[in-house]
Amino acid sequence: MMLSFRPMRHSDLPLLQRWLSLPHVKAWWHTPLDLAGVVAKYGPRIDGVEPTHMFVIEHEGRAIGWIQWYRWRDYAAHAAQLGAEPSAAGVDLALGEADLLGRGLGSKALRLFIERVVFAHDVSAVVCDPEERNTRSLRAFEKAGFKIERTIRLQGEPFDRRVIRLDRAHHIVDPDHQGK
Ligand SMILES: CC(C)(COP(=O)(O)OP(=O)(O)OC[C@H]1O[C@@H](n2cnc3c(N)ncnc32)[C@H](O)[C@@H]1OP(=O)(O)O)[C@@H](O)C(=O)NCCC(=O)NCCS
Repeated sequence: MMLSFRPMRHSDLPLLQRWLSLPHVKAWWHTPLDLAGVVAKYGPRIDGVEPTHMFVIEHEGRAIGWIQWYRWRDYAAHAAQLGAEPSAAGVDLALGEADLLGRGLGSKALRLFIERVVFAHDVSAVVCDPEERNTRSLRAFEKAGFKIERTIRLQGEPFDRRVIRLDRAHHIVDPDHQGK
């Protein structure tokens, strides 16, 4: 199963807009945006103006979704609600192609991305906050080595989230990448 990551480009934004509008993504990302809205929100991240780093997930050379990471010190108000330390990072992802869900790609992408990209930086842990109802996502993060820490409710949201965590010391080493 060949998975790789490349930085998102401006030319990917129409594809990102299509993915964000699909029911299985929209249900959890809550950002139904038109193309102008996607350009306004994600363009500054691609340009390095906003400190969230956007990557396209490729499977056998085909763009199948996206994954992003950021340092919690850059989002202090949100981090405080999670209890995430400034040296930790956050990661979010979605597979845009519905026919690829539930085949192990998401958990594998998480593991590889954290190993190769996030932990290549000075990051102590990865702390994320999937919705409590998003059982498929929670299971995918769990398969990537995350543990549930607590349940919280973010200010202004009418639903609970699970705070989940993967410490650098405990992350699972990419078996395809050992010794290389
Ligand atoms: C979340 C996401 C990236 C996970 O990727 P994936 O490839 O679908 O996940 P995996 O196949 O690696 O793992 C999913 C696990 O959940 C299980 N699962 C699938 N549907 C489920 C459901 N409705 N309830 C509970 N578990 C479910 C699968 O069986 C699998 O577990 P198993 O291998 O033990 O059987 C992907 O589903 C996705 O893009 N979803 C839409 C966007 C989203 O929710 N993003 C996350 C926001 S936090």
